[in-house]
Amino acid sequence: MRTVITEDIHVAARFIRQGSLVAFPTETVYGLGADATNKAAIRAIFKTKGRPANNPIIVHIADFRELTGVAESVSAPAMVLMDAFFPGPLTLILDRHPAIPEVVSAGLSTVGVRMPDHEQAVELIRTVGRPIAAPSANLSGRPSPTTWQAVKEDLEGQIACILRGEQTPIGLESTVVDCTREAPVILRSGNVTLEQLRQVIPEITQAVEEAVGEAHSPGILHRHYAPRASVFLVDQIDEVVNAERAGFIGLSAPHAPAEFLLVEQISSLEDYAYRLFEFYRECDRLGAESIFCERVAQEGVGVALMDRLERAARR
Ligand code: TXA
Ligand code: MG
Repeated sequence: MRTVITEDIHVAARFIRQGSLVAFPTETVYGLGADATNKAAIRAIFKTKGRPANNPIIVHIADFRELTGVAESVSAPAMVLMDAFFPGPLTLILDRHPAIPEVVSAGLSTVGVRMPDHEQAVELIRTVGRPIAAPSANLSGRPSPTTWQAVKEDLEGQIACILRGEQTPIGLESTVVDCTREAPVILRSGNVTLEQLRQVIPEITQAVEEAVGEAHSPGILHRHYAPRASVFLVDQIDEVVNAERAGFIGLSAPHAPAEFLLVEQISSLEDYAYRLFEFYRECDRLGAESIFCERVAQEGVGVALMDRLERAARR
């Protein structure tokens, strides 16, 4: 299959309406989109990504009106969260509406709903006129793509179209919050932080990984976001021995940058998030054997960053 790479929303929308797969940018990472009401198209997402069948997919909407055809009911805390953070990098788990086929949610009775804060994503959903189901547009297990070139690297020849846009401004996937329980629970940390969520829902909690469990968010249990090179977490660059076939990313300045294959010195946590996944891919392109990533404090976006770093380091 030839993959059409375009900036034309109408071309991309036509493919989705026909039941084909289209990668598109959002404010977090690129998504691999399909008509959320088309079972065959959703099955194609699982097949193309090599995605485990028990990992549910997020449904993207452009307007609050669309929500009634996606979620069966919206709990009071979900209302509050939408009011505060939609559109934005937050996914809410709600009861699934029958118009959304079970396969989208990998058999669960719930559905993840997100309203992206990104012009091209919103235009695409509006032009299609239906909600778009989309996981991150990487092969399963690879880092999420933050550039259209990264999507091309993983999926060219296997999907109908890439809607070309800029590098995604946030660079980490959305925060996922389960709103089907008494008090909302964070299943995956992201750019919307625990502190921000607590300002509107004080009783919100962060799920401990073991307790997330198969039934609630199977995707959280899979290994993720990993480059081919081995990832090692360090507290500072001085810990790194044998930098020869290695990359380094972190806040501290390397004393001898020339020893490394690639060094990315970042200026803030936001910058770290923005660059991390593309840095992994760049290291892989250069044939790096190891990647050293500097740890950050577990506060604000640091929580999501450490979550992604630890997953990549765990093998
Ligand atoms: O920022 C993002 O969320 C990006 C962009 C494209 O929107 N999407 C994304 O999708 O990261 P994906 O499939 O890579 O990750 C979705 C996560 C998985 O951990 C999955 O298990 C969880 O959300 N999830 C989706 N639907 C769920 C549901 N009904 N119940 C529990 N967890 C769900
Ligand atoms: Mg993903």
